[in-house]
Amino acid sequence: MRTDHIYSRVVVEYAEIPQLVLYIMRLDRFLSETTGMSRKEATRTLHRSEVSVNGDVVKKGAAHVPDGAEVVWNGVRLQLLGPTYLMFHKPVGCICANDDPNHMTVFSYLDLPNPDKFHTVGRLDLETSGLLLVTNDGQWSHRITSPKHGCTKVYRAQLADPVSEADVAAFAKGLQLRGDPKLTEPAELVIVGEKEALVKVNEGRYHQVRRMFAAVGNKVLELHREQVGELSLGELEPGEFRALTDAEIALF
Ligand code: URA
Repeated sequence: MRTDHIYSRVVVEYAEIPQLVLYIMRLDRFLSETTGMSRKEATRTLHRSEVSVNGDVVKKGAAHVPDGAEVVWNGVRLQLLGPTYLMFHKPVGCICANDDPNHMTVFSYLDLPNPDKFHTVGRLDLETSGLLLVTNDGQWSHRITSPKHGCTKVYRAQLADPVSEADVAAFAKGLQLRGDPKLTEPAELVIVGEKEALVKVNEGRYHQVRRMFAAVGNKVLELHREQVGELSLGELEPGEFRALTDAEIALF
């Protein structure tokens, strides 16, 4: 009878599960996670002997990659990305999508091996510039976008017509946006110049700031997001990215 043998194997493997599950990944999956290539492409790449693990060429996709192993593809070391948090200065004319046939996307500016794993934290319109966060951590971005958490975003708007104290009062009271059943949450409008204002909102409705000004009979000519929570762009130029610091990540 081999039952005892099978039984003992099961027990041993069970005891090893934490190590196996946490620290080991198949090589073909590791390749596609780190480079964005499909599993099929990964298999072909391996068959062409282009990949080494800890110095040895490995051709089998099912081979395990232990934690900390040095995986090299054509001379380039590949590494899995853990949770990643980036700040981007979105220029006008760039779109918040992973792919677009007609426009530069946020991800055209970022040289990530596997951009499909990333998303923008909320969106800015094609014509809006400013601070945009990008991450692969869905829980973190939810804390910023969910109305329940009330994270304040600050926008600077250039307007077609003068802004008035009546507008300040209307923004503070809540506005009826065309097509929306509910009034907007109270928002702060700060008059900066005759046709320039800062708007502080805690929601993220579709084209919210443009529609808020439309609701008071004005028109946004230029819109720039200056701040998300306590974060602002600082010296970051349009089209530039930088990684957030641990303290910045912990703000949300
Ligand atoms: N409100 C807008 O109208 N557009 C944006 O991009 C962001 C907020």
